[in-house]
Amino acid sequence: MNIETKCVQAGWQPHKGEPRELPIYQSTTFKYDTSEEMGKLFDLEAEGYFYTRLQNPTNDSVAAKICAMEGGVAAMLTSSGQAANFFAVFNICEAGDHLIASSSIYGGTYNLFGTTLKKMGIECTFVDQDLPEEELAKLFKPNTKVVFGETITNPTVSVFDIEKFARLAHSHGVPLIVDNTFATPVNCRPFEFGADIVTHSTTKYMDGHATAVGGCIVDSGNFDWLAHADKYPGLTTPDDSYHGIVYAERFGKAAYITKATSQLMRDLGAIQSPQHAYYLNIGLESLHLRMKKHCENALAVAKYLKNNENVAWVSYPDLEDDKYHELAKKYLPNGSCGVLAFGIKGGREESIKFMDSLKFITIVTHVADARSCILHPASHTHRQMTDEQLIEAGVAPDLIRLSVGIENADDIIADLAQAFEKI
Ligand SMILES: Cc1ncc(COP(=O)(O)O)c(C=O)c1O
Repeated sequence: MNIETKCVQAGWQPHKGEPRELPIYQSTTFKYDTSEEMGKLFDLEAEGYFYTRLQNPTNDSVAAKICAMEGGVAAMLTSSGQAANFFAVFNICEAGDHLIASSSIYGGTYNLFGTTLKKMGIECTFVDQDLPEEELAKLFKPNTKVVFGETITNPTVSVFDIEKFARLAHSHGVPLIVDNTFATPVNCRPFEFGADIVTHSTTKYMDGHATAVGGCIVDSGNFDWLAHADKYPGLTTPDDSYHGIVYAERFGKAAYITKATSQLMRDLGAIQSPQHAYYLNIGLESLHLRMKKHCENALAVAKYLKNNENVAWVSYPDLEDDKYHELAKKYLPNGSCGVLAFGIKGGREESIKFMDSLKFITIVTHVADARSCILHPASHTHRQMTDEQLIEAGVAPDLIRLSVGIENADDIIADLAQAFEKI
């Protein structure tokens, strides 16, 4: 099946007489006839549902759809994108370990890795993702366990060179995790370029309507944990909390997701609600149509901004003269996403006046849904920082993040134009 068909048809496969539309299994528990049957589930000896914190049929159908779209072997839904990235890393890192992450990743993930994981004894080195391979290779340590980046970074819309980082990670015996939130599997499938694990904030384009916070982790099944057994004892040595199961031996290609479900979800409990999974599935059904429209509109808006005398600079990888256009042609040949960044001449004050003058493009702390929206990190998410601190964090003080929606492009441009007239 092509990606468009997978968006619509993958996942829920009803049998005779079952609902055609994915049902919401709004139940925390599942019934068994004997205690032996239930016991086998707890020993991971039999497959089945017993408690929604671990697994739920609605969630599993949606995870299976995203898994098919990414071309993976196993997937799980989480309560948020933050939970997905936390679980994805924590599933293979423990106190004393080290990871390498692009410094251009979403601020929330930056905090998670730089502050919270640090408190748990996991150290992160943030790197300039555009450095040459030889420079990046020097940053690996004997305790490095994973490499992390975003296909398209939030908010700087830089394109991550997946093949370069996959080569680096694999030559050091570690997997590459790629957060594919902005591109979505419609525009890029990181497994095709060597990534091992993909994560998503499904809150964004996948849901697409700003209705439900959620996340997803997909495993390609390609990383050979047993070949690097000393690095990943959690997958390659007995788990005492499951009667000595060795995940990589028992579950093969499904080991990583099985461990994340049966250990991390069991103990940390960041499950997506089945109701949210249902909304997510509806969003996924039109993802291919929306991504096309987001990209068409964003390119039209980027070209308009590029020729606007009030605008100092524009970043959008689909523009032919963009710094990341060559990478975009390779990884995102059908378009990147609807998000772009630009700066207004004059800095913070002019930016605020401009944004306050917009009519239907609204100021929201959100990105990547059907409605066009805008955010100025220096005035909003990063407002406590000085210009110097912003630059250090990789966010230009004049950077405005515009998430171009699926309205009519002429109307979006008209709204921008009337706001420019006010400054
Ligand atoms: C690229 C990326 N990853 C992860 C997240 C976190 O996702 P969530 O807000 O669903 O927790 C975000 C949120 O903006 C994001 O943009």
